[in-house]
Amino acid sequence: NVRVLSTIAEVRSVVKAAQAAGETVGLVPTMGALHEGHLQLVDASQSECDQTLVSIFVNPTQFGPGEDGDRYPRTLQRDCELLAERGSPLVFAPTVAEVYQPGNDTFVEVGAVAKPYEGEIRPGHFRGVATVVLKLFNIIPANCAYFGRKDYQQALVVQQMVRDFNIPIEIVICPTIREPDGLAMSSRNAYLSPSERKQATAIYRSLKLAESLYRNGEADVDTLTKQMRGCLADSNITNVDYIAFVAAGTVHPVERITGPTVVALAARVGATRLIDNHTINP
Ligand code: PAJ
Repeated sequence: NVRVLSTIAEVRSVVKAAQAAGETVGLVPTMGALHEGHLQLVDASQSECDQTLVSIFVNPTQFGPGEDGDRYPRTLQRDCELLAERGSPLVFAPTVAEVYQPGNDTFVEVGAVAKPYEGEIRPGHFRGVATVVLKLFNIIPANCAYFGRKDYQQALVVQQMVRDFNIPIEIVICPTIREPDGLAMSSRNAYLSPSERKQATAIYRSLKLAESLYRNGEADVDTLTKQMRGCLADSNITNVDYIAFVAAGTVHPVERITGPTVVALAARVGATRLIDNHTINP
């Protein structure tokens, strides 16, 4: 009962037909291995748009050489079952060759917002993300597209590109969905061993710790960062790529919390790299 489209021609004609009939179309770009975080984006789209299209594509250009592109979980059958339960009937699941035709040689380079943090640690990552998202937007001229706040910097990169390229699609950013113990849902959580899964709860705990210290009067970012590192270290998370305090909606670091601030962090739990963020509103 889920309709899986795999060619650009097919999906275009389905979208065009819907829009010609006066229907709005919501796009939810994903790499599959769907979880509740993805499904809530689907719910948001379904509540606001007449038709919802979920793209499932493990985009090779956003993975670096030593990264997990090859072993990224691929579970199309299960994904379709979950989407059927949510009543979302349209899936676009193209092959790599369909999206990247031989000789494909044009890429999107977003500026300053893509440079620090994830951009610094994963060179070329946002170039791959921006490129595939622009491709998806051109393949599927949706009215709205839904992204998660969990990937804070990615959302900023997409919003920057949409502004700069005058793309007539409304970008909707949805809240981060968490496991009951606070761990942000992620397809990569499947890589964690049971003991790593327990360790990983320290990530959100450290973000909440920063907020509670702030509520108790500590606004100095160096102090808050040290406390967060201590909290992570208590769970044996010592491989921290960054802890960033930035003015909300930007990647500009702050030294003190004086306005809405996003605390973002990336850390390795065993071999698995996890990211999360939390907004502190004074
Ligand atoms: P993926 O990691 O599959 O995530 C797809 C979308 O789901 C992204 O917008 C992401 O922010 C959102 N998401 C993931 N986990 C979430 C959670 N726990 N709560 C809320 N939203 C969550 O992000 C990508 O794929 C790719 O980079 C993509 C944009 C599809 C381009 O290839």
